[in-house]
Amino acid sequence: MAVNLEVKIGSLTMRTPVTTGSGTFGFGSETKDLVDLSKLGAVCVKATTRERRLGNPPARMCETASGVLNAIGLQNGGIENYILEKLPYLRQFDVPIIVNVPGESPDDFAYVARRLTESGGADAIELNISCPNVSHGLDYATQPHLTAEVVAAVKAVTDLPIIAKLSPNVTDIRPIAKAAEDAGADAISLINTVIGTAIDARKRTFKLANKTGGLSGPAIKPIALLAVYRVAQTVNVPIIGMGGIMNATDAVEFLLAGATAVAAGTVNFVNPLAAIEIADGIADYLEKNGFTDVHELIGAVQ
Ligand SMILES: Cc1cc2nc3c(=O)[nH]c(=O)nc-3n(C[C@H](O)[C@H](O)[C@H](O)COP(=O)(O)O)c2cc1C
Repeated sequence: MAVNLEVKIGSLTMRTPVTTGSGTFGFGSETKDLVDLSKLGAVCVKATTRERRLGNPPARMCETASGVLNAIGLQNGGIENYILEKLPYLRQFDVPIIVNVPGESPDDFAYVARRLTESGGADAIELNISCPNVSHGLDYATQPHLTAEVVAAVKAVTDLPIIAKLSPNVTDIRPIAKAAEDAGADAISLINTVIGTAIDARKRTFKLANKTGGLSGPAIKPIALLAVYRVAQTVNVPIIGMGGIMNATDAVEFLLAGATAVAAGTVNFVNPLAAIEIADGIADYLEKNGFTDVHELIGAVQ
């Protein structure tokens, strides 16, 4: 029995409901001999900023119980480097490209969005207003009016679908999601990492040079699921859910909570084929449970 896995995120059609999580899959070419990108629902690439960024000094990652702390600090070659060096590889595949865009001002976000639009460099733009590892990154997703300001600035310069990526590091994520929707976001993605730290008792130092980092992986799944559920009750635009998804069962839980699509993030460091295998597993789940369309799962748990 064939099942339908296709979903829409605004005007973007995803062949399967599974994308990669930004920052956990590089720019696609890192897994060149391993992953056929055309089997992904979408490929969401690493943060791309107006200018090149070196990121934070090492150590920038450490393991924790059931998760990973990272403080990469948005290392990337900048938008022109992306267009010249990264895009040609990605465009060899029949797969939608989502470019993750952080910025230090609404103008920065708009600049990169305009360049992506002019160059055909993206099929959707994910606004990273929620990175916990840089100043002027997290700030925009902590207050509804700042979120709206960035979304509106980008909406004014592009017709590409805009996905606002929200932070769990807030008291209530719902007004922020609503502000993003009202300002014109076509979708919401959540969650970015949960701020935390780790201390080395032997060396009596922080484990990360940045002192704090963003926690990801299975440890944050309950936080992410609740955020997806709450935001799904609040907005009408589609949600891309992420946070600790390691297998198809985890992904199905996010769909049941109200996500239209999901992202495989930290799991890519264990298995770069995860996003493809999770999509296959969702199809198996649908078949075994007598469903024919992934939409039958979306928001089914109320
Ligand atoms: C090493 C690493 C780098 C990341 N870089 C970015 C990034 O550049 N932009 C972004 O929006 N999110 C970034 N994230 C967050 C992930 O995209 C995702 O939102 C988060 O890790 C939760 O999903 P997960 O638990 O499946 O990893 C990064 C996560 C990790 C682990």
